[in-house]
Amino acid sequence: MSPRRPVQIAPSILAADWTRLAGQIDEAESAGADWITLDVMDGNFVPPITFGAQMAAAVRSLTTLPIEAHLMVERPEDQVDQFIEAGVNCITIHIESTRHPHRLFQRIAAAGVEAGVTLNPGKPLSELEAVAPIVGRIQIMSVNPGWGGQSFIPESLDRIRKARDMLDRLGRDDARVAVDGGVNESTIREIVQAGADWLVAGSAVFNDRESVADALARLRAALS
Ligand code: DX5
Repeated sequence: MSPRRPVQIAPSILAADWTRLAGQIDEAESAGADWITLDVMDGNFVPPITFGAQMAAAVRSLTTLPIEAHLMVERPEDQVDQFIEAGVNCITIHIESTRHPHRLFQRIAAAGVEAGVTLNPGKPLSELEAVAPIVGRIQIMSVNPGWGGQSFIPESLDRIRKARDMLDRLGRDDARVAVDGGVNESTIREIVQAGADWLVAGSAVFNDRESVADALARLRAALS
């Protein structure tokens, strides 16, 4: 299997042990994680509340890895400047969560931060067509957002293929297809074969079964 570009894995700290977060992030970085993902939840767009830009600034001080902030919040336009200020490298926005997505993606890119777009599993991919030319990535939610440890939604595979096709039709070979939710040893191969090259992994990386290093090695081995 030869994906278009090296597959990048982004452990989500949502699944990490928050009582020892610095050590968990250090383990992920030492074990070869490519990014760190922050699942930002406001208790409105999704029921749970996790953390905000202050956590992003703290994580920024803990790692040299690029950081992606996945904003599962209402009115993300009110939050974006704080995450840019905190030093994140990518901000992923739900297309359903903002009235002016095109303008918001332009604003994120103008700040030198990669703009990612995502949408809930119940939404048609056609909603992304108008912003596909200007985002750095399309992220397919393969679970309903709000919680880690959920099962991969099988219909997501076709959405991954369609997202890749959408970008390819635009000549966007530079843009990535990301997947978030239920990425693990048994799903990672078909996810990459469907066209994804950037993967969020929470509970598959941070769990009480094995070390972070062993967990990441297991994911990589499932791809080779
Ligand atoms: C859902 C979160 C999760 C998380 C990944 O809102 O975005 O998808 O990052 O969790 P796992 O890898 O445990 O499904």
